[in-house]
Amino acid sequence: TSSSTSSPPPSSFSPTLCFIGKKEDIVRAGRVTTSVNGCRDVLVLHHRGQLYAMDMRCYHSGGALQNGDIEEFNGRLCIVCPWHKYKITLAEGECLYQAVDNPTAKPLRTQWRSKGVKQRIHEVTEISGDVYVTLNDSTETIDSDFYQTEKYRTVALKT
Ligand code: FES
Repeated sequence: TSSSTSSPPPSSFSPTLCFIGKKEDIVRAGRVTTSVNGCRDVLVLHHRGQLYAMDMRCYHSGGALQNGDIEEFNGRLCIVCPWHKYKITLAEGECLYQAVDNPTAKPLRTQWRSKGVKQRIHEVTEISGDVYVTLNDSTETIDSDFYQTEKYRTVALKT
């Protein structure tokens, strides 16, 4: 989720806020990938006036989500991984898929379902035109954590 505010003043900044960039630059670029606190590679993107942040590599096999299209499925905005087309909701990190209700029914009817939260989503805060990310430090394991280990973080980051 993301939030927007014009306060508090700089003196009360939380140390957990990591500066990502000027909002106008992020809006212009559409997407920015960055290393937050030197420990996590995060994709920050701007879509329809809203900022989102999530782990940069797709939970499925480490795909480059910064190159994915954004589309709406069942009324929910998703980034579509360019590698195997998994659909991950921008706001929650849930993976959506189309389930067949009854395989013997003709015609087949499908319904969108969720596999649950698979991609770690981070909080975005905007203060006076500056954009910050607060890492989601929930201790619960989320599948995308796997691609935040050293082995996968050697890939050069570009903004
Ligand atoms: Fe993203 Fe497979 S790596 S769908």
